[in-house]
Amino acid sequence: MKKSILLLGLVSIMFAQIPDAPTIYPKGEVGKMVKLGEDIIMNTNTHPLTKEYVGNDLKCTSCHLGGGKEKSIGTFIGTAAAFPAFSKREKTVQTLQDRINNCFMRSMNGKRPIVDTEASIAMATYITWLSTDIPMKMNEKKPVNKYFTKTWPGSKQLKPIIKKATHDNYKNGMNLYTNKCSSCHGADGQGIGTFPPVWGSKSYNTGAGLSKLDKMASWMKGNMPLGNPNLTKEEAIDISIYINAQERDAFNLKDHLLPREKMGHYNSKVFEEKHTVESNFKAFGLDVNEIRGNK
Ligand code: HEC
Ligand code: HEC
Repeated sequence: MKKSILLLGLVSIMFAQIPDAPTIYPKGEVGKMVKLGEDIIMNTNTHPLTKEYVGNDLKCTSCHLGGGKEKSIGTFIGTAAAFPAFSKREKTVQTLQDRINNCFMRSMNGKRPIVDTEASIAMATYITWLSTDIPMKMNEKKPVNKYFTKTWPGSKQLKPIIKKATHDNYKNGMNLYTNKCSSCHGADGQGIGTFPPVWGSKSYNTGAGLSKLDKMASWMKGNMPLGNPNLTKEEAIDISIYINAQERDAFNLKDHLLPREKMGHYNSKVFEEKHTVESNFKAFGLDVNEIRGNK
C-alpha cells in the first residue's frame, strides 16, 4: 500500500473515534436555547447578549471551528461529557458554564459573563447538545475533553523543540506566515474583512491558550491554513513563535472580572494571575527579545 493511503487510513481511524455532531435540534424551549447558544458562539462579539463581554474582534467559532461542530482540534463534540472537571488554573472543580465563561477573559480579551444568565445557559445548552449520546467521564486532572486534545501533538513532543528556538526560527516563521497565512490574516496580523486578527489588541490576550507556544502550534497544525491544514510540526512551531512574539494585550486577571456586586460567585481559589508576551516565552526558557533579533 502507498504510504499516503496508509496515512489517510490512519487519520480516518483517528477521526472516526469522534462522533458526528448531532443535526436534529431538540424541540420546544430546549431547542430554542440550543439555537440561541449557537448564534452566540457564531457571533460572540456582535451578539446583543454577549458583545459587552467581548474585548476583541473574535468569536468562539474563530478557534472552535464550525462553532465546535468540526472534528478538528478545538471541537466541542464531547466537551459537556467532561464536566464538572478539576482545573489546576482555578484550583477548583469547574462546571461547563465556568469553563465557557472563563474563555471570555482570555481568548475574547473581555469580561467574565455571569453564571446562569441567559447567554451563559444558552451557550452551555448548545455545547451540551453537541455531546448527545457521548458517555459522561470525570476529569480529575484537567478541564479539557478527550476528543478536544486527541489529535494534538502532545506538549511533551513539542516542548523540547520549542526550548531550543533561536532568531532563525522566528525568521522562518515570518516567511511561512507571509506565504501561507498573510493573504487572510494580513501582513500586519490585523485580519482582512471577516478573517480575524492574529495579534494586537483585537486578538486574544497573553492569558489565552493560543498565546502559549505549544498550544498554538498544536491548534494551528490541526486547523490552519483554513480548509487545508498542511503544516509540519516544525513549521507550526516556527509560525507560533513568530505570531506570539508580536505585541498583544498583557493579561491581569483582576482586569477581566466584573465588579464584585455584579460578578456573582467566581468559582476560583486564584485571584492573582498575570502574563505578558515576555513571560509566555520565558515559560519555555526563551528571551523574546533575542528571538525577535533585538539583542
Ligand atoms: C483564540 C482562540 C479561542 C477562542 C476565540 C475561544 N477559545 Fe475556547 N479554547 C481555546 C483553546 C486553545 C482551548 C484549550 C485550552 C487549554 O487546553 O488550555 C479552549 C478550550 C475551551 C473549552 C474546553 C473544551 C473542552 O472540550 O474541554 C471550552 C468549553 C471553550 N474553550 C469555550 C469557548 C467559548 C464558549 C468561546 C467563546 C466565548 C471560546 N471558547 C473562544 C481557544 C479559544
Ligand atoms: C483562507 C483564509 C485563511 C488562511 C490562508 C489562514 N487562515 Fe487562519 N483563520 C481563517 C479564518 C476564517 C479563521 C476563523 C475561523 C472561522 O471563522 O471559521 C481563522 C482563525 C485563525 C486563528 C484563530 C483566531 C485568531 O484570529 O487568533 C489563528 C491563530 C489563525 N487562523 C492562524 C493562521 C495561520 C498561522 C495561518 C497560516 C499557516 C492561517 N491562519 C491561514 C482564515 C485563514
